[in-house]
Amino acid sequence: MAERVYIFDTTLRDGEQAPGYSMNLEEKIRMARQLEALGVDIIEAGFAISSPGDFESVEAIASAVERPVVASLARALKKDIDAAWNAVKNAKHPRIHVFLATSDLHLEYKLKMSREEALERIRENVSYAKSLCDDIEFSCEDASRTDLDYLCKAVEIAIECGATTINLPDTVGYSTPSEIANMISYVKQHVKDIDKAVLSMHNHNDLGLAVANTIAGIEAGARQVECTICGIGERAGNAALEEIVMALKTRQDKFGFYTGIVTEEIARTARLLSSTTGVKINPSKAIVGDNAFAHESGIHQHGMMANSLTYEIMTPESVGVVKTNLVLGKHSGQHAFSKKMAELGYNLTKEREDALFAEFKRTCDRKKNITDKDLIALVEAQENPATQTWALDSFVVNSGNKMTSTACISLKKNNEKIYQDVASGTGPVYASLRCVEKIIRHPFALEEYQLTAVTEDRDALGEVFVKISDQSGVYRGRGVSTDIIEASILACINAINKMLNDESKSIGSRETAAQMSFENDMLRDHTDQKELN
Ligand code: KIV
Ligand code: ZN
Repeated sequence: MAERVYIFDTTLRDGEQAPGYSMNLEEKIRMARQLEALGVDIIEAGFAISSPGDFESVEAIASAVERPVVASLARALKKDIDAAWNAVKNAKHPRIHVFLATSDLHLEYKLKMSREEALERIRENVSYAKSLCDDIEFSCEDASRTDLDYLCKAVEIAIECGATTINLPDTVGYSTPSEIANMISYVKQHVKDIDKAVLSMHNHNDLGLAVANTIAGIEAGARQVECTICGIGERAGNAALEEIVMALKTRQDKFGFYTGIVTEEIARTARLLSSTTGVKINPSKAIVGDNAFAHESGIHQHGMMANSLTYEIMTPESVGVVKTNLVLGKHSGQHAFSKKMAELGYNLTKEREDALFAEFKRTCDRKKNITDKDLIALVEAQENPATQTWALDSFVVNSGNKMTSTACISLKKNNEKIYQDVASGTGPVYASLRCVEKIIRHPFALEEYQLTAVTEDRDALGEVFVKISDQSGVYRGRGVSTDIIEASILACINAINKMLNDESKSIGSRETAAQMSFENDMLRDHTDQKELN
């Protein structure tokens, strides 16, 4: 009979630690809800002690999801464990995840601690965590480079003090599958009461072996695997959840394991991560890349037509890649639109659907056929009207190779007053963003700007992703239009609305570079600004 492997998702902790993947509170809650829909067993929501923002998001996720266990990471220190417990205690199923490095390298150079002292720390802190919470995981950081007999001692103490999950990470992604299998088998054979705990794997991908190592660990006896969506994480990342899950599912004949993952939710989860963070999925990425199910060569296409099993080991539908035949255009009504949204897996409120349908109709005036990719881009760029302080009313941009670009933009504030201004710059996007900044009178710096075509056609929608920052933080925005200047302005306004809605905002006296340049601009340009109506 197939045995279950538990999926511990650390996208919001180890994944979020990676540069470019940080998320704000609202984004983390949305991601956690999607992870729940995906069917993960445990969500590691963050590292509560690491910042007030992390604490707040672990606490919010603990209340936002019901079925999965919610874990917070903690060093083997009382203050960390207290913070972790305070953040997860309202979860339906809370877990404290305590860790301490056990390799001689880490003990000597990082912790400056003897082996004996480390064992004492484990005893003291796992016992303390257990006095607060029933579900305790203990991780031996750098386990794969730890002397095996010492590793067994550390694990034995953690179990004796109440840990019910023992995680043995390959922290630096150094090990090979046979070494991982050996470590798991050794611990299983030499630790007293090992059956009282679930053994877990946590493999990093520095040598590209994270998924292979995880599978080897499962075959040797691990029954929990720690992983992230698309394999994001420290340095080269963690083991990719979708790869582990689909390997176990597709090769159940070989491995004999199953998971609780709703595999049809995989593509949507990866898309949410990418649209939230603005980091594109590599087209060749296994399972979720754009090319994962594309068959370009004639020989492959011929084989696929004769029998899809010739070149397809799993179906696109099984991971939630839906290819529908219904192409929408300007004559499509709301009924067809609604049906298509449902096929794409979006469960929209009436209000959201009406707003999107209006946007869809506007897009149809400029673009003949609206594909699934276009619709997904439109849905994902849609703003929540409740948090939309500023909205684009109209714009005119003049640009050419022998002139300075100028932008004249009108923005609506709180759906009431319209404000208009003019700005110039060395290019049309620069002039437009400067003009928006003048209107809203709040300085920001542009940290990142990405423009991509949603589809390959000449009349493709342009999708712009921006990151802006002020002294309170970094905010992302997305805009979609057949006009790339409009998409840029929309993306900028989307980020600005998030910035202005950030309640933790306290505009201090610190002068950022952005603020200074803004104030210089204001001195020059303020007289141009007009308030209409
Ligand atoms: O890689 C690692 O060792 C970790 C632990 C803290 C679990 O992330
Ligand atoms: Zn890690």
